[in-house]
Amino acid sequence: YVIGVDLGTSAVKIILMNQLGEVCVELSQPYPLIQKKSGYSEQEPEEWVKKTITALSMLVKGFHGSPEDIEGISFSGQMHGLVLLDQHHEVVRNAILWNDVRTTSQCEDINRLVGKETLLEIAKNSALEGFTLPKLLWVKEHEPHLYKKAKTFLLPKDYLRYRLTGHIHTEYSDAAGTLLLDCTRKCWSREICEAVGLDISLCPPLIESHQFVGTITREIALLTGLSEKTKVFAGGADNACGAIGAGILEVGKTLCSIGTSGVVLAYEEDRGRNFEGKVHFFNHGKENAFYTMGVTLAAGYSLSWFKEAFAANEDYEQLLTGIEAVPIGARGLIFAPYIVGERTPHADAFIRGSFIGVDSSHKRIDFVRAILEGITFSLNESIKMFKDSGKNIDTIISIGGGAKNDTWLQMQADIFQAKVVKLSSEQGPGIGAAMLAAYGCNWFSSLNECAESFIKIAKVYEPIEQNVREYGQLFNLYQRVYQATKEISE
Ligand code: XUL
Repeated sequence: YVIGVDLGTSAVKIILMNQLGEVCVELSQPYPLIQKKSGYSEQEPEEWVKKTITALSMLVKGFHGSPEDIEGISFSGQMHGLVLLDQHHEVVRNAILWNDVRTTSQCEDINRLVGKETLLEIAKNSALEGFTLPKLLWVKEHEPHLYKKAKTFLLPKDYLRYRLTGHIHTEYSDAAGTLLLDCTRKCWSREICEAVGLDISLCPPLIESHQFVGTITREIALLTGLSEKTKVFAGGADNACGAIGAGILEVGKTLCSIGTSGVVLAYEEDRGRNFEGKVHFFNHGKENAFYTMGVTLAAGYSLSWFKEAFAANEDYEQLLTGIEAVPIGARGLIFAPYIVGERTPHADAFIRGSFIGVDSSHKRIDFVRAILEGITFSLNESIKMFKDSGKNIDTIISIGGGAKNDTWLQMQADIFQAKVVKLSSEQGPGIGAAMLAAYGCNWFSSLNECAESFIKIAKVYEPIEQNVREYGQLFNLYQRVYQATKEISE
């Protein structure tokens, strides 16, 4: 057996997997967000450790075999969060999380000091408030006494792994979200550190995601009931682990994950590909691979907003009943899902959503269909950018809420103009973490081999030619909505 630990933003989720790739146990333990001011988002790293220990001991208690049968453990974690440690490896302050946006002025500083072009060349991403480097600079500026104490920084799941093993590392997929990694050379960038005045010795040693780090400490073994022989492997960023768990491990494979927000993530081996910072470009959890990622901020959230506002007493099944009978184009209604602004491709926090073409004949179900189409068009803007850069996108694995409805899955195939695959079971990033442990334990000779054995396809949706043509015309219209509504809303 192996364990995958997913250190999320609202809870730690752990799964136990056997050698057949079956999930035998799933557990989760929640922890709170600390929001002292608007735009602030923090967590206590000690809470992550406590809740993980609780979840692991619950898992071991309910486990029928001997603890020694649990061979390995690995991690997936929320990206970008800053954990600062002093010389004794004590936490200096609360972790500042990925969704904390206090660092706009530090992002401006980074652009000025490093240069936007240089940053894109080295770190492959633009300076965004969520990333780690702006957070480090914020602490330096606003809490110099704490910054002085700091001897190293870690990402959230790296801190958890340190507490379980006593060893300090990070790995490339999470390091890629700091803005400090030279992504293609796979080392910390001295140039960026010097430009922003950051001591490079703060950066932890780098290893690969499947790399063996050590065994768990005696103390953790006693607290959880796990064997002291349990091998610990580095793990990866949650998006990288989500990709591993869905088998996004070779060129041509792309993931569409629709939750509150929506993510389109494409496997990449070309180190030189340039998206001018419009999509994220991160190191994968598979050695020497990368992924590009576009984000629709309000994907499932657009639907849940509509449900809360207009159908609060119904469930999603009721809300979507009859959706297949509404023709493509929702009888002339177009929805732009910018209800909380948009990340890709507009990077515009101020734009807002719209329904265009409302007619007195429209029923609620037409609006629901328009919402699904609008969300899918928005995700297609990321896919279009990938395709325009020369990427071959022929198969898209769809997971999350967007993969629960047949009509929506067919819509994805028709709009994305690619085969859309639904998996028979999906457990998110925790599966990817467990797969890294399985590969690390030498159950397989590669992550791809592990994916072939563990990931099972439930159904494939092929694009239908006539639908592709109709959606193609509607997508052209959809793409004009941003500019038109931007102009009149300013
Ligand atoms: C990625 C990002 C989020 C976090 C959430 O850039 O900010 O997906 O990883 O856990």
